Amino acid sequence: MSAIAAMLAPSREVWVRAALADVDTLLVDHAHCERKAAQTALAMVAKHPTWAALVGPLSRLAREELIHFERVLRELRHRGGRLRALPAAGYAAALQDAARATREPAGGADLRRAQLRDEMLVCALIEARSHERFVRLAAATDDARLAKLYRDLLAAEERHGDLYLGLAREAYEGDVTARLRALAAEEARVIARPGQAVRMHAGG
Ligand SMILES: [Fe+2]
Ligand SMILES: [Fe+2]
Repeated sequence: MSAIAAMLAPSREVWVRAALADVDTLLVDHAHCERKAAQTALAMVAKHPTWAALVGPLSRLAREELIHFERVLRELRHRGGRLRALPAAGYAAALQDAARATREPAGGADLRRAQLRDEMLVCALIEARSHERFVRLAAATDDARLAKLYRDLLAAEERHGDLYLGLAREAYEGDVTARLRALAAEEARVIARPGQAVRMHAGG
């Protein structure tokens, strides 16, 4: 188990059941998650073009996410569904807000290092949560084809989480374990916010 996975609160059984009760919506949301993961990675490349350890790996990550996006689209079509707009759950934005609100007070270079560290840790947690939920869905569904989809994708998401964690460590030039633990606690609160529709990263 990766360092991030060990810190994630397990998804609740009630979420797993609700997600599998509406596979069409779950897949539409999942497709958007893969697309957004590619966009986020490319936005990082645009923002940090001179960071050698980031540019190549995140370009590859973006390509991989688009392959995932197309795989989920095929699965959706196979089931008679199609891509449509879905209101965003606001999960990533809420995580970034939580990171900002809980960041240690600092100025100058220390603040920039802490911001960059948190930016990478938030991405690491999102990827790790995808991995955790794919594992849960693969185990819980009695649809062999759906289970295979999640099993085929989950290892990549774990790797992506570790990649972002490595970038957080490089950015911070120090130990990020305590901060990862604090942000994992925020993530557990954000993902279980009441009153949200069931999504890959919301609703339980
Ligand atoms: Fe992905
Ligand atoms: Fe990913």
